[in-house]
Amino acid sequence: MSLEKMNDLNLKESTRPENKEINGVLMNKWIYDNWDKVWNFQAKSDDLLIATYAKSGTTWTQEIVDMIQNDGNVEKCQRANTFDRQPFIEWIMPPPFHSGFDLAMKMPSPRTLKTHLPVQMVPPSFWKENSKIIYMARNAKDCLVSYYHFSRMNKYVPDPGTFEEYIEAFMNGRVLWGSWYDHVKGWWDAKDKHRILYLFYEDMKENPKKEILKILKFMEKDISEEILNKIIHHTSFDIMKQNPMANYTTLPTSIMDHSISPFMRKGITGDWKNHFTVAQNEKFDEDYKKKMEGTTLIFRTEI
Ligand code: A3P
Repeated sequence: MSLEKMNDLNLKESTRPENKEINGVLMNKWIYDNWDKVWNFQAKSDDLLIATYAKSGTTWTQEIVDMIQNDGNVEKCQRANTFDRQPFIEWIMPPPFHSGFDLAMKMPSPRTLKTHLPVQMVPPSFWKENSKIIYMARNAKDCLVSYYHFSRMNKYVPDPGTFEEYIEAFMNGRVLWGSWYDHVKGWWDAKDKHRILYLFYEDMKENPKKEILKILKFMEKDISEEILNKIIHHTSFDIMKQNPMANYTTLPTSIMDHSISPFMRKGITGDWKNHFTVAQNEKFDEDYKKKMEGTTLIFRTEI
């Protein structure tokens, strides 16, 4: 179906979809309605899963991985949209819309897949098959700011309300895919029990070469210095922002309206300082301490 047709169809149902909880985690209605299918997703041992809490640098990691798999061949990486190259496994939509789940089923191996599921909700076949997983985490405040703007522009996500209201929703885990705190801690605890490479957005931003080398090692791939530099360049924020196959601009505006806020928004660490008031920041920090007590997981909110 053409994007124009999809746009027309979608405009007729332009209200935001309902959301429902699965095991205390908020999901959209379609994921909820198809949860059995998602839970029974059949992973394969040569799958590579990219897992993140929403707005933590998923698309960035996806582009890096695709560039590695294609030995730095930019044209090959522009063969399709990010979401068609690397299916979003829990994303099930009613026909004729896009369903990452179905795409994953049809895709030949080896597959690279995406999920935002908290660790306890990952289909058990991934653990059984011992598939490799790259987890990318981002500090809570920048993640919140990014998610807030994304929720304004993406009609598949609940309306965020005011920034003040959104801070509350985020702190209470009343956002799609649930609590950021539980997500990052859950995956952190899982990383020593499974084949999980746990990375941080802030580290990638500060020193992409160092982090990409970690990904290469994890993927058991070797590339030349020249290709490595090409990957760093092609996956930089400024280049990805201009890349229609990575910046989500090919979607109809009735789904993502980039004039409200672009998907490739700022791509920096520390933008939270332009959003939080002193009072909001103090309240957030106090609550953060309680929620993150006892974990060895430490985030940087500036670099
Ligand atoms: P901002 O809204 O803070 O700009 P996800 O892909 O998980 O939805 O994450 C989107 C966030 O990652 C957005 O953050 C986006 O700008 C940022 N991002 C995407 N590509 C990036 C890149 N190459 N470098 C830095 N940040 C990037």
